[in-house]
Amino acid sequence: MGQAKYKRIVLKLSGEAMAGDDGFGIDPQTIAVMAEEIKEVHDLGVEIAIVVGGGNIWRGVTGEELGMERAQADYMGMLATVMNALALQDVLENSGVPTRVASAIEMREIAETYIRRKTIRHLEKGRVVIFAAGTGNPYFSTDTLSALRAAEINADVILMAKNDVDGVYDRDPNVNKDAQKFETLSHLDVISKGLQVMDATASSLSMDNEIPLIVFNLNQPGNIRRVVEGENIGTIVGE
Ligand code: GTP
Repeated sequence: MGQAKYKRIVLKLSGEAMAGDDGFGIDPQTIAVMAEEIKEVHDLGVEIAIVVGGGNIWRGVTGEELGMERAQADYMGMLATVMNALALQDVLENSGVPTRVASAIEMREIAETYIRRKTIRHLEKGRVVIFAAGTGNPYFSTDTLSALRAAEINADVILMAKNDVDGVYDRDPNVNKDAQKFETLSHLDVISKGLQVMDATASSLSMDNEIPLIVFNLNQPGNIRRVVEGENIGTIVGE
């Protein structure tokens, strides 16, 4: 087994990564595979905090498009991330990885409420912490949550695991055959070029707090470990 380049990471998993081929809901087999990948990294001694999206269950923006009030739709999205967090906790613990779910919205029968110093202690004790319920506020994405928590817990890096995209491109690689992949970028490049890496709030928070970000493809087995070991398989932003 290799050596980890990073000691403490925030791993951002999109909600869609938890769905099976139909793109909706939670697929037990898909998340079991994900748990094994996370376990590999945990076995390297890396402290892991996970941010999980909720788009496989509900998207705030979709609700808004359907005529709902944005804040209301966003709160539903936060609840979707709680379901994903509990599912991920279940498979990780089945794989023998100790976990704690830390919710930004108090729901103490289900999970402990997020307290920064408690999260740091959990990480130091080798527990994987899964953040649930976003930032607890509407209008903020789980990308922004990743940047916020990474700053709060002094993470070395944010690992942005993407579905079937292996980095940041100058154009949409699914539409343009000759789209060029960036090896490295600055956070300012991402903002000024309008690249779809994370939303602008998340990017500026990462820039202000000098948190590097690595965008890579989740759908290749072993990729989370490769990135943690320092292999250049994606796009590095702001390092
Ligand atoms: P240490 O204090 O480092 O030992 O951490 P710990 O998480 O093991 O201690 P604690 O006694 O706080 O928690 C024991 C278990 O209860 C863990 O699985 C926690 O996730 C869970 N837990 C703690 N607080 C809450 C809460 O407010 N609500 C829910 N649902 N579970 C909680």
